[in-house]
Amino acid sequence: MPLQHNAHEQWWRDAVVYQVYPRSFADSNGDGMGDLPGITERLPYLAELGVDAIWLSPFYTSPQNDAGYDVADYTDVDPRFGTLADADALIARAHELQIKVIADIVPNHSSSEHPHFQQALAAGPGSREREMYVFADGKGEHGELPPNNWTSIFHGPAWTRVTEADGTPGQWYLHIFDTTQPDWNWENPKVHELFAEVLRFWLDRGVDGFRVDVAHGMVKPEGLPDAAVNADGLVDIPEGEAPIYFDNDGVLDIYREWRPILDSYDGDRMMVLEAWIPEHRIPLYIGEDVAHQAFNFGFLQAVWDSETIRAAIEKPLAEARAVGAPTTWVLSNHDLIRHATRYGFPPDYRFGEGLSRDERPDAELGQRRARAMSLVMLALPGSAYLYQGEELGLPEVSDIPDELREDPAHKRSGVPGRDGCRVPLPWKRDAAAFGFSETGKSWLPQPPEFGCLAVDTQEQDHKSTLQMYRGALRARRRYGLGRSDKPIEFLDAPEGVLAFERGPVVVAVNTTDVPIDLAACLDPDRAKVLVQSAPVEAGKLSANSAVWLHRD
Ligand code: NOJ
Repeated sequence: MPLQHNAHEQWWRDAVVYQVYPRSFADSNGDGMGDLPGITERLPYLAELGVDAIWLSPFYTSPQNDAGYDVADYTDVDPRFGTLADADALIARAHELQIKVIADIVPNHSSSEHPHFQQALAAGPGSREREMYVFADGKGEHGELPPNNWTSIFHGPAWTRVTEADGTPGQWYLHIFDTTQPDWNWENPKVHELFAEVLRFWLDRGVDGFRVDVAHGMVKPEGLPDAAVNADGLVDIPEGEAPIYFDNDGVLDIYREWRPILDSYDGDRMMVLEAWIPEHRIPLYIGEDVAHQAFNFGFLQAVWDSETIRAAIEKPLAEARAVGAPTTWVLSNHDLIRHATRYGFPPDYRFGEGLSRDERPDAELGQRRARAMSLVMLALPGSAYLYQGEELGLPEVSDIPDELREDPAHKRSGVPGRDGCRVPLPWKRDAAAFGFSETGKSWLPQPPEFGCLAVDTQEQDHKSTLQMYRGALRARRRYGLGRSDKPIEFLDAPEGVLAFERGPVVVAVNTTDVPIDLAACLDPDRAKVLVQSAPVEAGKLSANSAVWLHRD
């Protein structure tokens, strides 16, 4: 039975949003690549899990050089994923199940196969077509040097030189990401018009909101000046700032344009920004006339230590309060090492690097801490964003053969990249491709250990991570834990333990390696365990675990 939906206004304020990565969720046609009908078939699973909304990573027409974040047509569905009719059916079914749908919009860049880019290439320097993208003449006597020294997020230069129609070496175009992802020129009003139409297209089809990709990226500094570079020759990121091509104030005007479009539709349509910017800048992006929310990426970078975790909770809450918006919480997504693996790294792990084949994080410890951290997150005021498979405790997969990896960052520079968190989901322990696809095909190989983590197996085990998430989402809804109008009260607790109160619910997390007596935080005889990441026995909270208790 699906759980009752959160019917109150501004549903996004405390929603649990589940990120569906279409390539890897469920494959309905047996080609080894997930698709929209596959998602629609499995929506009852998400209703049962108890999520309020799904965010769909891009399923638009795309050559898939960056797994769909290279869009060739923003208003059509890639045949690999289905058709527009399949998108309509997905949205309709989700709504029947009281699940909102958030689409991903990619406004910083398109695919180089986008008709506008192809037209820009054909039309040549000085044309109106070239004005749609960031083209510039090169430096040097013959324009043979890039217009500036910017480097791409995916390594290598951020500029590529084109060959003009007459066969001569020509201008350069900017691509902050892959060479096949040219940056749009947001100084051109036509780009603004194009994206306003894209928003309307999907809003008319019933989507409830947008996740905005590289939401801090669209506007570049005037004159495209050189950047300071670090010792590795990459664009420097000064302390407390974003790299030169990100977080320029002009970006905020785009949200001021988009907000009235969203507000002109009924049903609290929203946008959530993917903005990797210093925390103190986030409040500028959210509010009544800009975006509704931005991902708070500070929380997931907090090391496993009760004081650090507390600071990673209090800071964004205070900042969000100042602008009257709720904060968001997230531990995993399709760009990061899965948190079940991340928490098994030694404390000196450098956040942001991929998992290499020879690294051996402590899998069991990672799993324990990840379960505990998920319980902390799900009790916090604001909305929580889950990444598919985290409810199964899936680990990062490190041993994908290089030739099967698709991440452009890997292809450009040989780093492990992000494929390890994108491996297709296991649904059935004893089926081909663990039930992901009936033919047994899977675009990335699934490791044997996915069998024990399959949905059907975890459904039979009341202690499984899946059952823990289901229990937590039920209790979260029942006690309104996500609501920002309920203050969070921190309780006195022994060293290494973080304890806080959310109405009648007390949450305690033990970050130490020894069990801790719960009596130090509350009277265990007058409290009932609601959800636990590891068994609470004899009034003791196990090492590296968390619990939700209901006060009698
Ligand atoms: C952020 C997306 O999450 C990531 O997957 C993508 O590679 C870049 N933006 C570029 O679109």
